[in-house]
Amino acid sequence: MRKNIVAGNWKMNNDLSQTESLISDLKSQVQTSNAEVMIAPTFVNLWHAFEALRQDSIEVVAQNMHFADNGAYTGEVSAEMLKSLGIKTVILGHSERRAYFNETDESLAKKVDQALQHGMRVIFCFGEELQDRKAGNQETVVKSQLVNALCHLDADAYKNIVLAYEPVWAIGTGETATPEQAQDMHAFIRSLFKERYNNDVADNLSILYGGSVKPNNAKEIFGKPDVDGGLIGGASLKAEDFFAIVNAF
Ligand code: PGA
Repeated sequence: MRKNIVAGNWKMNNDLSQTESLISDLKSQVQTSNAEVMIAPTFVNLWHAFEALRQDSIEVVAQNMHFADNGAYTGEVSAEMLKSLGIKTVILGHSERRAYFNETDESLAKKVDQALQHGMRVIFCFGEELQDRKAGNQETVVKSQLVNALCHLDADAYKNIVLAYEPVWAIGTGETATPEQAQDMHAFIRSLFKERYNNDVADNLSILYGGSVKPNNAKEIFGKPDVDGGLIGGASLKAEDFFAIVNAF
């Protein structure tokens, strides 16, 4: 059975005291929900957030990691380092990592392998740019991102993969894909995995939508049959908005 997931991607926001205060707001709002709830603070506050949420149902996850075990990679963080804090899930392939830090399908394939080899769960992000959508190429672009970075995996690996479709033109712009656009793409992705693997893999894959999900549009987007949750940027920085989205399930 696939799971509903709502993950807050804090990006490069919140210093230590802001992290403490947002976590305390989150703790005061958390209630039983129909979705798994996650937050992804910056690396430097991961341990603090993990400790602060140890007794709660909110999972603390990482925004990125390196593909090597260790070594001369100044400024980078390894899977073992994350695991040693208790972090079990990592976001990979966010469009901001692709655009500003030159992450490619090839480097992402290595990161995915590394995370899975270390028993971590991956939230894998992908999505087309505005010019792709305008040209009607969104499915071709998304297919090649998924095939290049993921389709070398065997079917069993997908137990630890969550997909996050994030059209680049909808991230941080206030412009959301319509629920129909999201559903069409998610259905396309599921059919791709059916074709490449089997019904089981496709049916059990959680596919999140990301890109300007807000309290006022979450219900409609999450109401679509192939949308299993959301990756939330801006609206995850306010506990009230984030939980309004979580409670849209
Ligand atoms: P946004 O970001 O909700 O601010 O559009 C989504 C994301 O980048 O994951």
